[in-house]
Amino acid sequence: MENIIILAIESSCDDTSAAVIQDGVLLSNVTASQGVHEEFGGVVPELASRAHQLNIVPVVDAALKRANTKVNQLSAIAFTRGPGLLGSLLVGTSFAKGLALANNIPLVEVNHLQAHILAHFIQTATETKASPNFPFLCLLVSGGNSQIVLVKSHREMEIIGQTIDDAAGEAFDKCAKIMGLPYPGGPWIDRLAKEGNPEAFLFSKPNIPGYNYSFSGLKTSFLYFLRDNLKENPNFIEENKADLCASLQKTIIDILTNKLKRAAKDLKINEIAVAGGVSANSGLRDALLDLGRRHRWTVHIPPFSYTTDNAAMVCQAGYFKYLDGEFCPMDAAPYAKTKI
Ligand code: KG4
Repeated sequence: MENIIILAIESSCDDTSAAVIQDGVLLSNVTASQGVHEEFGGVVPELASRAHQLNIVPVVDAALKRANTKVNQLSAIAFTRGPGLLGSLLVGTSFAKGLALANNIPLVEVNHLQAHILAHFIQTATETKASPNFPFLCLLVSGGNSQIVLVKSHREMEIIGQTIDDAAGEAFDKCAKIMGLPYPGGPWIDRLAKEGNPEAFLFSKPNIPGYNYSFSGLKTSFLYFLRDNLKENPNFIEENKADLCASLQKTIIDILTNKLKRAAKDLKINEIAVAGGVSANSGLRDALLDLGRRHRWTVHIPPFSYTTDNAAMVCQAGYFKYLDGEFCPMDAAPYAKTKI
C-alpha cells in the first residue's frame, strides 16, 4: 500500500494537536498548549474544552499546510478516542467526525496510551531512529498514568503493573504545588533538581506488591516533612529548594525504576522503553541509560517533542491501524477511561 496520508487529532487533555503522516513518515506535528490553566494549579476541564474549540481549526489547518496536504488527499482521519477528559475528547472526536463525514474519509480511533508507546516508531524525513524490538517493556509515565506495559506487537499490549493511586506526574505536580512552584510542576522540579543534592533528604518509598506503584504516600510524607520543618524555619523551602527537588525526584525515579528492574529480570526482557510526559525528566532519562549500561538493556528514549501529548503519536498509531484495515464507525463516542 502506498501514498497513505493520515491526519490525526489529539485533544485528550490540555494540548490541541494535529499531525500528518505519509507512508509512515511524519510530515507535520502542530500543538497549541493551553496557558489558561496555570493560575489554577491544574487542568480545569471546562476551560480545556473551550480552549480546544478555539484552537482546533487553526491547528488542523496549520498541520495540513505544513505537510503541503489538502483534505481531499487524506486516506483517513485518526483521532484520540480516550482515555482523557470527556469534554476535551468530544471536541477532537466531533471535529474528526465532521471532517470525515463531509469529505467521505474513513475514521480511525486511537487509544491515547497506546499512542504514547507507539511514539517510539515515529520516523521523519530527516531523523530515523531505531524502533524497539518486540516484545519490549514500556514504562508509561504521565500526569494520569504510571504503568509498566508489556508490548508484544503494535496492537497487543498488556499492563503488568500500574499505580493504585496517584500517577508519577501527579506526584511531581502535587509536591511542586506544595513548594509553591507553578503548574505543571514536573519540569520545574527537573530544572531545580539539577542544582541540588539528591541525597540531602530521605523520603520513604512504598512497599506495594508485584509491579504496581503508589505515589500518594510520598506526597503526604513530603507535605508533613515540609510542615514540620517550616515550624522551625519559615524559610525552609526557599533555603532548600534545589535539594528538596533533587531528593524528591530521586525518590520518584527509584520507585519507578525498582519495579521496572524487577519486571525486566522476571520476564527476561532487555528491550526497555519509556513514554509519556514524565519521560521528559532528565533524571529519569539518565537513570534509565545508566541501568541500560549495567543490565545490558537496549533503552529507547523518545525525542522531547513526543513525550508530552502530541498528535504525531496518534498519527503513528492510526497509520498502523489503517494498515490493519481497522476503521471506526461514525457513531463512536469518546471514553474517559479505558484499558490500553
Ligand atoms: O503525558 P502528559 O503530557 O499528559 C498527561 O498525562 O496529562 O504528561 C504531563 C505530565 C505532568 O504531570 C508534568 O508535570 C509531567 O508530565 N512532566 C514532567 C516533565 N515534563 C513533563 N515531569 C517531570 N519532569 C519533566 N521534565
